[in-house]
Amino acid sequence: MNTRIKMRVPVRSSLEEIEEYKPGESAKGAIKLSSNENPLGPSPKVLKEIVESIEERELNLSVYPWERNEEELRDEISSYIGAGIGKIVMGAGIDGVLDTLVKIFIENGDEAIIPVPTFSLYESLVRIAGGIPGYIKRRREENFSIPIEELISACNEKTKMIFISSPNNPTGNCIPEAEVREIVESVPKAMIAIDEAYVEFAGSSLVNLVKEYANVLVMRTFSKAFALAGLRIGYAVIPEWLASTYKKVSMPFSINSVAIKAAIAALRDKEHLRKSVELVKHERGFLIETLQRFFTVYPSEANFVLVAVSPRKSYAVCDALMKNGIMVRDCASFRGAGDSFIRITVGTREQNELVVEVLRAIASSGTSRTRL
Ligand SMILES: Cc1ncc(COP(=O)(O)O)c(C=O)c1O
Repeated sequence: MNTRIKMRVPVRSSLEEIEEYKPGESAKGAIKLSSNENPLGPSPKVLKEIVESIEERELNLSVYPWERNEEELRDEISSYIGAGIGKIVMGAGIDGVLDTLVKIFIENGDEAIIPVPTFSLYESLVRIAGGIPGYIKRRREENFSIPIEELISACNEKTKMIFISSPNNPTGNCIPEAEVREIVESVPKAMIAIDEAYVEFAGSSLVNLVKEYANVLVMRTFSKAFALAGLRIGYAVIPEWLASTYKKVSMPFSINSVAIKAAIAALRDKEHLRKSVELVKHERGFLIETLQRFFTVYPSEANFVLVAVSPRKSYAVCDALMKNGIMVRDCASFRGAGDSFIRITVGTREQNELVVEVLRAIASSGTSRTRL
């Protein structure tokens, strides 16, 4: 490039140590079980609705999204989660919602508590905002439960947010409601942000706590059970007092009109949701039961399972799976996870059988044991 000014303009110093977000890998033709997507795909009614509303010009792509359509989606979400719990706000996936929330609560020098291993975006956003993440190590020997006393004593006047993924990515476990209550009541000046990206696959939700506590919010997404990850749409149920600040800070038109239409249609197709969830629960059971014959597999309330492959290294097992056309997630990139965990998204029976077959071969190959 023929530039006249060669010197770079300095970027904010808080950005220096932040790593780029690395999504689950994808490669053409391979079976992708690395990003916790829905193997059934979206409801056919969603696709029909989008195509028809564009063709019939009810959905006009040349104009900005309508507030009225967003209202309709808010009503639909409200009847899905139960009316009168809190205010519903939206964003471009939970990622977008998180971006807005961190802007609201974290300024230079503020602290945020993050039990690890967990979804890495919490830490990145806190650091981008100039905040300081405080990591609490989950107890591996107790199915990755959070040491609550330790978490509470790590909080101080500067603690503004606590991030709890439930079910947690990549460990698959939920936090018991009593433990959330203990945190919420002990740290009233911090916002407890509960990430329920995988809640549809779990036994229960914590969303009702938003009704009771002014320092609790719950985030949800259309990327997982509703299979709309490509459209980037998510929401949060937040206390009333926070709604106008959220609107001030979030980007105008951050969710697009196609995503709004699709989300409404997805919520209305209850049968497709039921089928997706049933498939995941059934196949999750199959994966856990078969894989635990040769590896340690953790219980999961999500659409993935965490597998300990030690004494093998996770990167070697991921490479071996990849050579067989299967992509899973190497958990070494999760802070505090170490180098011997892989995360496998629950797929169709055919996909899962293939994963099991390859992992069985890896587990029983005496010679490759040292190499792997
Ligand atoms: C715990 C958790 N939260 C949020 C997300 C991102 O969700 P979205 O697609 O709605 O941005 C993910 C994605 O994998 C996740 O695992």
